[in-house]
Amino acid sequence: MENFHSSLFLLFLLLPLLVSCTERQVYIVYFGEHSGEKTLQQIEENHHSYLLSVKETEEDAKSSLVYSYKRTINGFAALLSPREASTLSKMEEVVSVFRSHPRKYEIHTTRSWEFAGVEEAIKKSENLKREDIWLKSSYGKDVVVGLLDNGVWPESKSFNDEGMAPVPKSWKGICQTGDEFNSSNCNNKIIGARYYIKGYEAYYGPLNRTLDYLSPRDKDGHGTHTSSTATGRRVDDISALGGFASGTASGGAPLARLAIYKVCWAVPGHGKEEGNTCFEEDMLAAIDDAVADGVDVLSISIGTSHPEPFNQDGIAIGALHAVKHNVVVACSAGNSGPAPSTLSNPAPWIITVAASSVDRIFSSPAVLGNGMKLPGQTVTPYKLRKKLYPLVYAGQVANLDVPKNLSGQCLPGTLSSKKANGKIVMCLRGNGTRVGKGMEVKRAGGIGFILGNSLANGDELVADAHILPATAVNYQNGLKIMDYIHSSKAPTAYIVPGRTVLDIKPAPFMAAFSSRGPSALSPDILKPDITAPGLNILAAWSEASSPTKLDADKRVVKYNILSGTSMSCPHISGASALLKAIHPHWSSAAIRSALITSAGLNNNQGSMITDASGNSADPFQFGGGHFRPAKAADPGLVYDASYMDYLLYLCSIGVKIDTTFTCPKHPMGPVNLNYPSLAVPNLRDSVTMVRTVTNVGGSKSTYFVSVKPPLGILVKIWPPILHFNRVGEKRSFTITVKVAVGGITGSVEKQKYGFGWYTWSDGIHNVRSPMAVSVA
Ligand SMILES: *[C@@H]1O[C@H](CO)[C@@H](O)[C@H](O)[C@H]1NC(C)=O
Ligand SMILES: *[C@@H]1O[C@H](CO)[C@@H](O)[C@H](O)[C@H]1NC(C)=O
Ligand SMILES: *[C@@H]1O[C@H](CO)[C@@H](O)[C@H](O)[C@H]1NC(C)=O
Ligand SMILES: *[C@@H]1O[C@H](CO)[C@@H](O)[C@H](O)[C@H]1NC(C)=O
Repeated sequence: MENFHSSLFLLFLLLPLLVSCTERQVYIVYFGEHSGEKTLQQIEENHHSYLLSVKETEEDAKSSLVYSYKRTINGFAALLSPREASTLSKMEEVVSVFRSHPRKYEIHTTRSWEFAGVEEAIKKSENLKREDIWLKSSYGKDVVVGLLDNGVWPESKSFNDEGMAPVPKSWKGICQTGDEFNSSNCNNKIIGARYYIKGYEAYYGPLNRTLDYLSPRDKDGHGTHTSSTATGRRVDDISALGGFASGTASGGAPLARLAIYKVCWAVPGHGKEEGNTCFEEDMLAAIDDAVADGVDVLSISIGTSHPEPFNQDGIAIGALHAVKHNVVVACSAGNSGPAPSTLSNPAPWIITVAASSVDRIFSSPAVLGNGMKLPGQTVTPYKLRKKLYPLVYAGQVANLDVPKNLSGQCLPGTLSSKKANGKIVMCLRGNGTRVGKGMEVKRAGGIGFILGNSLANGDELVADAHILPATAVNYQNGLKIMDYIHSSKAPTAYIVPGRTVLDIKPAPFMAAFSSRGPSALSPDILKPDITAPGLNILAAWSEASSPTKLDADKRVVKYNILSGTSMSCPHISGASALLKAIHPHWSSAAIRSALITSAGLNNNQGSMITDASGNSADPFQFGGGHFRPAKAADPGLVYDASYMDYLLYLCSIGVKIDTTFTCPKHPMGPVNLNYPSLAVPNLRDSVTMVRTVTNVGGSKSTYFVSVKPPLGILVKIWPPILHFNRVGEKRSFTITVKVAVGGITGSVEKQKYGFGWYTWSDGIHNVRSPMAVSVA
């Protein structure tokens, strides 16, 4: 994860420098809404006329068009020079013109690979009777979940359509054929499949079809994994390649339909382990189609930790149009934690999903020659014969020319075969990929390896399918092993083979990699929204890939384990599909509200969810808390918001997104968006904001508010009691947040956030909203 990111950034920052300034690049020209009744042809002609106004010839205008977005989004993507782009951006009807960012999008994955395991983890981690919501929602029957990712492996049992009704008449999607993908690969489960590659090919040239399939088929594994996490069928007796647990696998909404939109592709000249690249203009085309095809939920495990303003961000623009058509959009929060303000996808019309652990581990302790047994985790199928082996620290067996600060990292080519041969090598996380470190130990003749966490990784153990006997230990235990190595004349160790252990406590805890708030783009909106399982998640895999994606790895597996907010996002997409099945008329904001206000704050020991180092976590890590779909199905009250509310919010932060909409002269502050949580940055004296709740519980009900304010802050809610006489009734209240006398010198330091909650309760439902306040 760590280095994966930095290497990608390096790559993406270097590439644009190679492109000369005069060369044409893809720009997205965005108009906002389609106005009036126009045929698709008229829209395309309109786009063409804009291009003609900056291009010399008809031919030039035609050939430079990459996409014309005609269905729900009004805009086009075209090859333009910076000058042409600038000319277009000054035209009155144009909302924004932005370059499809050369750094593109990373798929949010921290690689940890495995095969086998029990999907029980998802069920268990929710602390609730999930079966109930499955029954209530008929397992998400007939809700359509669209996945923007790198395709699907349609033969996986997770996508079988046994017993599923024919495709609904309302569905307008298609099954696009291509390399090793024909119409038989769609069925009553996978009801749609399309791919989008024009942006990729404008940048890289034609796809190298040995690297990827020119079709909706997944050559990587990621898209198959996220698709099956969201909607995979229940599959019994998942076989376990490495002797790990076997059991039943199931996605969140097993009877929901799946629509695949392949937008991410293998990068030429890089190993598969580099992951895929996704272009904004391709994603925008996919969302434009997905909404028109009739998806109900969009799951997007793609992002960047440096998000652009909302009117220059392809995912944010696409999601806004999707939400206008009542499609729920869930996106990954990113894997750039634990540092603050590392969020991707912070738009308030998106559900931004953080990642946390489940209560299952793959136990593989390290036993030291002095008798100490230290807990570790692995899902490698390779085992050592039971005896003690010589143990060394990588720094002791590195080649002499390796700088000291990198010598413990087991980076490729750094270990001396002479010195490492036949030994167990202790390596440290930091630079280089985790499985890559194992490869280096193996290359140098080591017989096993122990991977020690850095301080930042804390207790977060990512179980990997290494290609030699290996285990991973936390930071504290890594220090103990180093102490032992340095204080012993002939250190030795043994790695106990991995086995699955359930009911682990505490769980969940926040993954260290999970990106954190506050959002720099929308500090007045508390993000992320929620957390869901994203550490060591088992789901279906592409048989064209290996569990590690390393070229040297020839294993083929049907199920694999990955970690990342890429994995937590489809849990929320699946849960949203269940809610949509139960409440087909709820808006996407109502569904998000239900998820946030019903989320849990406690772990399975009954105390507050912690971070990976055991410290209490806060709403900038988990939003409302850990998702509880069954409770979300009956939230009592919801904070609703419409497309118009989002436009008003954008007015309040000075972002133009729709030229047909005129902002009020004095827009209300952004804190007034009717959001189920609240964030107040730089509070001076006091701020009052308005919220409106809609009754979706019992017809006659009375709610009382209780407040747990941030330290040093006074919070007043008025009125403190809300009466409802019918379902659908709305009631408004105000929240005043005020700096307490002497509060600033107390616990609320300058610029540091304090956290609190307010909860409406009728004795049955607890509608809880998190808040974050910083004092100017
Ligand atoms: C799709 O491909 C499979 C495998 O090659 C073949 O058996 C099947 O008949 C094809 N279906 C169609 C509709 O072409
Ligand atoms: C396509 O990729 C394969 C595998 O990496 C490589 O061997 C081949 O040279 C590439 N072809 C082209 C035309 O770049
Ligand atoms: C290691 O040290 C060298 C110089 O001593 C420095 O340039 C480099 O940035 C350091 N690398 C890391 C990972 O700290
Ligand atoms: C190693 O990692 C550190 C911290 O993550 C980073 O600052 C540094 O640039 C990396 N060095 C190399 C050589 O990748």
